[in-house]
Amino acid sequence: MPKKKPPAGTRDRLLRSARKVMKNAYAPFSNFRVGAAILTSKGQVFVGCNVENSSYGMTNCAERTAIFSAIAKHGPELEICAVAVVNDHGVPCSPCGACRQVIFEFGPEALVLFRGQSGTEQMAITKLLPEGFRL
Ligand code: THU
Repeated sequence: MPKKKPPAGTRDRLLRSARKVMKNAYAPFSNFRVGAAILTSKGQVFVGCNVENSSYGMTNCAERTAIFSAIAKHGPELEICAVAVVNDHGVPCSPCGACRQVIFEFGPEALVLFRGQSGTEQMAITKLLPEGFRL
């Protein structure tokens, strides 16, 4: 379970950041734009969007783009407190399995905000990914 829930203001800030970066997505194949924002234990926010490829399997999801850019900027001592994910279709969209594992690697206690059946839902990464893999 997450140590503490981010306050409502922080959740709004994350969702706003995710919505803004979603506009930068490169999604000509699916036409499904996704934005993600992560909050680190140092209070910093990093954002990412999905980047697709003609070779579909090379696509990078918004969540992983955000996490990888945080590491590129500040190194691997990353601790993720929360992740927000939005899409431009306003449809339910929780992080894919690969992203859940990557979120878990750097945020085993992270809270994930995503669009569920009835609006924004909040769920612990350990609920989305029980028994995440660890080396
Ligand atoms: N996608 C994300 O970026 N994040 C998710 O949580 C789900 C899916 C992207 C991948 C692909 O570019 C598009 O959405 C359609 O699958």
